Amino acid sequence: MIATRTLLSVLAAFATSVAVAGCASELDEPTASTEDALCTTACTSGTLDGDALLTRVDRGSALRSSWAPSTSALPASYALGAQSLREDARQKFMALVDAARGHGVNLACLSGYRSFHTQCALFRSYAERDGCEAANTYSANAGHSEHQLGTVCDLTLAGGGSSFIAAGGTADLWLRAHAHEYGFACSYPNTDRRDNDGYIHEPWHYRYIGVRAAAELKAREAELAGGLRLAVPVFIASLSASEREALELSDEPDDSSAPPSRASDAGASDADGGAPATPDCSTVPFEGRCTGTVLEWCASGAYRRVDCAGRTDGRVACGEDPSPYIGKNCIAP
Ligand code: DAL
Ligand code: ZN
Repeated sequence: MIATRTLLSVLAAFATSVAVAGCASELDEPTASTEDALCTTACTSGTLDGDALLTRVDRGSALRSSWAPSTSALPASYALGAQSLREDARQKFMALVDAARGHGVNLACLSGYRSFHTQCALFRSYAERDGCEAANTYSANAGHSEHQLGTVCDLTLAGGGSSFIAAGGTADLWLRAHAHEYGFACSYPNTDRRDNDGYIHEPWHYRYIGVRAAAELKAREAELAGGLRLAVPVFIASLSASEREALELSDEPDDSSAPPSRASDAGASDADGGAPATPDCSTVPFEGRCTGTVLEWCASGAYRRVDCAGRTDGRVACGEDPSPYIGKNCIAP
C-alpha cells in the first residue's frame, strides 16, 4: 500500500500549512490542455469556474488557478483545525454532522476547501516524497482537486486523533446510508482505482452535489452490478448538460435535512394522527419514531421530522433500518 490512511491524514493536515510560493511561477494563464494532466508537478491552470454545483472536476477537467469560491469557516465543533466550505455545502455539512451525532457517529471535517495554490504545493510535496506516479493515485494535481470547489470535506471521527474515517467502520456505514439525504456523496468509493477516476478508495472524501443529484447518483448506483459504487467524477462525467442543469435546481423541494418549523409540524402531525402536536426531543425515543410514513428523530437536541413518502429515492416507508445502530429511518417498502 502506497499510503496508509493515517499517513494520508497527517499529510492532509500538512496541506494547510504548506508553503505555496513554490508554485507561483507555474500559474501562467491562459490554460494549457488538461487532458493529460497526470504525472507532472507543474501546476497548470484549467479553464473552468466552479460556481455550478456539478462542475466537472476530475483528471481530464480542471479549475482555473484564479477561481476560488466564497467560503466561510466551519465552527470549531465541526472541524479539526481551521476548515472552510462554500456556504450551501457548509450548511448541509453541519446538518449531516448533527444527524450523524444523533446516531452516535461523531464526525468532523479534517480537510475542507483547499486553494489551487495549496493543492499545488501539496501534490508537489507528495510527489517529492513518493514519486509522481504514486502521488497521482491519492492526490490530485492543482486544478483537478474537488477540494478547490469548497464543497468537499475529508472526514474524521472527532476525538479519535487525526485519521480519516476507515472503510467499513460505523462512520463509513452511516455515511453510505445517509450522506445523500444531505446532498453529499463519496467521490472515490470503490476498491479498484479504475472505478474512481484513478484514485484509491477514499471513504472519507465527501462532496456536496445537492440532494437531487445525490439521490440520482444513488438511484444509478443501485442499477450497477457486482456491488460497484458510483464515483462522483464518473457520475458527473456521465451527465448530459440538460441533466446537469436539472439536477442543479434548488434542493429545497426534496430537502429532508432541514429542521421543520413547529407550525408546519403541528399541522402535519394532526393529519398523520398520533404524533404530538408540539413535539420536542423529550418525546422522541433515541432510535427515532415512525408514524405511518412520517419519521421523527433528534439530532444534537434538535427535533427533526420528514415524511418518507415524499422521497424520490424509493425509500418511501418508515421503519427499522437494517443497520442496528441507526434505528428508525426511511426505508424501501
Ligand atoms: N485526494 C483527492 C484525490 C484530492 O487530492 O483531491
Ligand atoms: Zn479529499
